[in-house]
Amino acid sequence: MKEASFVKKTEAFLKKLDFDVVKKSFVFDDLDSTNSTAKDLAKAGGTEGAVVIARIQSHGRGRFERSWESPEGGVYLSLILRPSVPRQNTSLLSFVAALAVTKSINTYGVHATIKWPNDVRVNGRKIAGILLESEGEGPTINYVVVGIGINLAIDLKKLSADLQTRSTSLVNEVHHMVDYHEFLRTLFMTFEHYYTVFEEQHFGEIIDEWKTYSDTLGKSLRVRTMTETLQGTAVDVDQSGFLLLWTASGETKKILSGDCLYFDELDHT
Ligand code: BTN
Repeated sequence: MKEASFVKKTEAFLKKLDFDVVKKSFVFDDLDSTNSTAKDLAKAGGTEGAVVIARIQSHGRGRFERSWESPEGGVYLSLILRPSVPRQNTSLLSFVAALAVTKSINTYGVHATIKWPNDVRVNGRKIAGILLESEGEGPTINYVVVGIGINLAIDLKKLSADLQTRSTSLVNEVHHMVDYHEFLRTLFMTFEHYYTVFEEQHFGEIIDEWKTYSDTLGKSLRVRTMTETLQGTAVDVDQSGFLLLWTASGETKKILSGDCLYFDELDHT
């Protein structure tokens, strides 16, 4: 889609939608990062259920301070949410987002799976990522920004050489064009469904369904956390989203956040 028409078409499309998670929208042609803009809006009091969307990002951000390359053809959006659940459950929103993205992609007849906690992949190659950023005090959530990046119709050659070998794009998997706005509709509808389950605090339901799409359980892997690197077998993901890793020393470690590397696909990490 050309730059000039992207903003107009997307604004017009969003106006016709009736989803609580996208009551308000901010659409840009070129932004540094939709998450950064969404955080600024949230801090300034932006309402629950606002979405920031950009055609391209110049400084897209990923987990662990990595960058997220954002050429044209991708979906780059951030939702501003103020859920009324205890703050300790906030991280489950990344499972909500991973489920919604995976299910939306799978409506196109591909088999996307989730690598704990929220890397969405097709045939072992990353197709989407999720970045959660939040602020709160004590048990209260001030805001959560759920950033979603999806390689929908990007030209993989526009990615850096290193990323090209481990990424894919939906059009490369289905071999035909995918309508950007139709995809957004499916994504918002699916997200809204799981967000309602989340707000009703049926966290177990989310994790149980997440497990049916995940390829992590049973795998031998290495997990890099902020503080250490652990190796072992992924035995479970508990109802709070913690990965339970059975290590060589016979201990089961509970990991809240990290980056997994599967030993059986060391070339695709
Ligand atoms: C990851 O897998 O590391 C997470 C990537 C998240 C990228 C998205 S793109 C939209 C939003 N804005 C950003 O700057 N990042 C997220």
